[in-house]
Amino acid sequence: MSVILIGGSPATGKTKVAKILGSKLSVEVVALGDFADESGCITAEDKARKTGIINEDCLVDALLDLTDDKSKRMVIEGHYIDLVPSSSVQWVFILRTHPEQLRTRLTERKYSKGKVTENVEAEVIGVCQMDALEAFGEERVFEIDTTEISAPDAVEIIEKIMKDGSSPHRIDWMAMLEEQGRLDEFLTD
Ligand SMILES: Nc1ncnc2c1ncn2[C@@H]1O[C@H](COP(=O)(O)OP(=O)(O)OP(=O)(O)O)[C@@H](O)[C@H]1O
Ligand SMILES: [Mg+2]
Repeated sequence: MSVILIGGSPATGKTKVAKILGSKLSVEVVALGDFADESGCITAEDKARKTGIINEDCLVDALLDLTDDKSKRMVIEGHYIDLVPSSSVQWVFILRTHPEQLRTRLTERKYSKGKVTENVEAEVIGVCQMDALEAFGEERVFEIDTTEISAPDAVEIIEKIMKDGSSPHRIDWMAMLEEQGRLDEFLTD
């Protein structure tokens, strides 16, 4: 088991964090979107529609080949991390960002209104967290709140967890916002 996965909603900092972590550990960093493209798992038609449709069977096969050498360490970041073969995975870090801050970041990135709402809702619900827990189980999945910290600081937290092995704590924006009576600001019906 050798792969370190970095997942999370768009603009939670996956790419930045993975790059810094990879260079600190001197291991290869694989961006899943690029890897899927290079592996021929995104068709020209998908690219034109820009919807990020991926041939999952194709990507699963390519990932099996990529992670075949179990002695080789690597960092893999992106969406679809739950397609990485579980037996190769050692650590899973899900980057989380408070929905309000995530909305700001996505808006700054010029996402359409619909895309912002969709991604903010997914973060409130915890879609990436739930998918990771389902694929890899409670013990390997750690959540890092990047709302108020920089990518290098997030990497320090990750390194500390890998060194000291703490027990994972769960982030639940839904419960927090509900308690504050703010859920309506972030969820459409
Ligand atoms: N910890 C952070 N603090 C402040 N802004 C951040 C942080 N992390 C990311 N951002 C902002 O979000 C943008 C996206 O960061 P990054 O590309 O690393 O995210 P990502 O999770 O890889 O997104 P995607 O899923 O779209 O690839 C950055 O350009 C930056 O403006
Ligand atoms: Mg990225």
